[in-house]
Amino acid sequence: MEANKWHNNFLGVRQQHNYMLYKFIDDVLRHDPIDRFVEIGTGSGALSVILGLHAVQRGTHLLTFDIQIRGRKPTLDKVFDALGIEFVQEDCFDNIERVLNYIDGRPCFFFCDGGNKPKEFNTFAPLLPADSIIAVHDYMTKEVSPEDISKATKGFTPILEQYWREEIFDIRTCFYRKDKL
Ligand SMILES: C[S@@+](CC[C@H](N)C(=O)[O-])C[C@H]1O[C@@H](n2cnc3c(N)ncnc32)[C@H](O)[C@@H]1O
Repeated sequence: MEANKWHNNFLGVRQQHNYMLYKFIDDVLRHDPIDRFVEIGTGSGALSVILGLHAVQRGTHLLTFDIQIRGRKPTLDKVFDALGIEFVQEDCFDNIERVLNYIDGRPCFFFCDGGNKPKEFNTFAPLLPADSIIAVHDYMTKEVSPEDISKATKGFTPILEQYWREEIFDIRTCFYRKDKL
């Protein structure tokens, strides 16, 4: 057992984030009226399980997209089934209508972790209902800079910003809540 922050296992699958992200998601969701959950980039599925649990607790299910299934171990399928996770093996940008139908005008937790995170944020953020929360992984890395998403964050308020900017937590993820009009 090694004391690594990154690339640990969760339910036997490789994490592409760290455990502290689960705490941030918990804190961000604690007082929010979220009742839809969308993830772009299922990958190994570890984060999907966390989001799927939050969804079940709120009487809904997670909708998650990945263009491939390669990253996911079949052993996780049972967990996905138990949580009612809806996995769609398609490009998220070909499914905008499907996402909006699923969200159905309700506050949504939207996690951008696919292949083009700035495009995911800039495409979906303007479409989300008020009180939705949108998060982007690999923020402040070469994948996503603040400038990449600055235009689309207008009308959003950062959540727990003083913490996700702290290097000590190193979650590489920012969170924004959509303001009411
Ligand atoms: C960084 S990984 C996701 C990690 C995952 N959240 C986890 O916890 O393991 C990015 C994933 O996004 C997928 N992807 C890339 N472009 C996509 C797109 N346009 N639509 C849906 N998925 C996409 C890739 O196939 C890859 O599995």
